[in-house]
Amino acid sequence: MEFSIPACIGESDDYSISRTCFMSTATIELDGKIQQLPIVIGSEGEKAVDISDLRAKTGYITLDDGYGNTGSCQSNITFIDGENGILRYRGIPIEEVAQKATFIETAFLIIYGHLPTRPELRHFSDLLTENQYLHEDMKYHFQGFPTRAHPMAMLSAMINAASCYDDGLMHWQWGKGKQFEVYAARLLSQVRTIASYSYRKSCGLPMIYPKKAYKYTANFLHMMFSMPYEDYELKPEVVHALDLIFLLHADHEQNCSTATVRMVASSQANLFASASAGVCALWGPLHGGANQAVIEMLQQIHASGDDGSRFIEAAKDKNSNKKLMGFGHRVYKNYDPRAKIIKAASEKLLKVLNLSDPLLEIAERLESAVLKDSYFIERKLYPNVDFYSGIIMRAIGIPLDMFPVIFAIGRMPGWIANYKEIMEDPHGRIYRPRQVYQGPAQQSFVPIEERG
Ligand code: COA
Repeated sequence: MEFSIPACIGESDDYSISRTCFMSTATIELDGKIQQLPIVIGSEGEKAVDISDLRAKTGYITLDDGYGNTGSCQSNITFIDGENGILRYRGIPIEEVAQKATFIETAFLIIYGHLPTRPELRHFSDLLTENQYLHEDMKYHFQGFPTRAHPMAMLSAMINAASCYDDGLMHWQWGKGKQFEVYAARLLSQVRTIASYSYRKSCGLPMIYPKKAYKYTANFLHMMFSMPYEDYELKPEVVHALDLIFLLHADHEQNCSTATVRMVASSQANLFASASAGVCALWGPLHGGANQAVIEMLQQIHASGDDGSRFIEAAKDKNSNKKLMGFGHRVYKNYDPRAKIIKAASEKLLKVLNLSDPLLEIAERLESAVLKDSYFIERKLYPNVDFYSGIIMRAIGIPLDMFPVIFAIGRMPGWIANYKEIMEDPHGRIYRPRQVYQGPAQQSFVPIEERG
């Protein structure tokens, strides 16, 4: 089989005029027959061979275990250039978004594709406030969980349960326009209420209602940490640091959880059901659980009296079964741009709060040693977003098993925006990958008496 892509790709600027642009074709030879396959070029010059009708034309499918080389969709939301450490939301570099926007402004940008005007932001904030309360009966669902239930299990179950209290969601028919706007705001607002209730439940503490006067992140901290007659003291630096963590997690193109949300959404399941599936996909330690693993690693290094050097040696030894958590990334082969922002924010927060965290010192020592180490340099292993985010969450007092929940709240705008793309795609089809079957060839059923 020969496969060639003509050299003329990218020589014309035709692709700027439409989302899907077939610039040129690739040629593939299968069973002695030449097939032309269209080439799609993204707005940042990413190239893809469109194989969508390869099977119909040739009987062949493509095989890509784990989707490492498969573009599952065309999307307008987030751009990542992992080689150069670039992340942009709707074209705006993450560094600028982090410096100038709040999480809620960012959520609007990600969901609706443009920065909100003042009236649009006001309207969006009002919708979040109007939709923040859970149905009172949901308290009984929370009561049914054991006290030590994991907050991610409660988050996923309760997001799904919340849809049962709304006829519109139960009879969901691709809610568009105003209906989508309300449900998107409801999900974004209620995820925070559900998350904080899950935490209170796991500690056996009474639930705290949201306050109308508080903004998004302040309200979350209030529901997490206030007591019935004693409001949590909201420090602006703490609110800002958590808002930044939400913002930096707001979208990251087709990762495991976002691809899951799109998969579920493609069956036309409602928005809450699709997001609930996203929470489950995020829960695993290879995805949203990594920030927790970083803190556990730093604690282990600290407790063993290591300055980090012994752990680095172990992480390089393939027989040790150890990895330097918070280092390396499937896409970034350069410094994760979010890690730089989080590192600066964690140092600033500890200084303002007058806290000293031995884990931050270990983390900084590890980072500077690793960046000079040929093992990590050769493999392009740099700190990722999870390396420093746990330091901030610890300083705020967020317990370890809530770390992936914080990630889920932050990722909600990305899931909603990806859901919206699926919903609005006029050519949308149910997601249905193929497989290469490797099981037994046809055989006859053997009656139980004859099976020996
Ligand atoms: N510590 C030590 N070695 C590491 C490493 C780490 N954190 N991450 C990768 N490597 C090594 C691998 O052992 C492999 O070495 P080899 O070429 O000698 O076999 C090489 O670097 C390439 O790694 P690979 O596992 O192929 O990279 P990947 O793209 O499949 O995996 C991660 C990416 C993120 C899963 C991986 O880097 C990792 O496990 N990191 C730690 C967990 C983490 O921080 N996850 C959060 C991601 S946001």
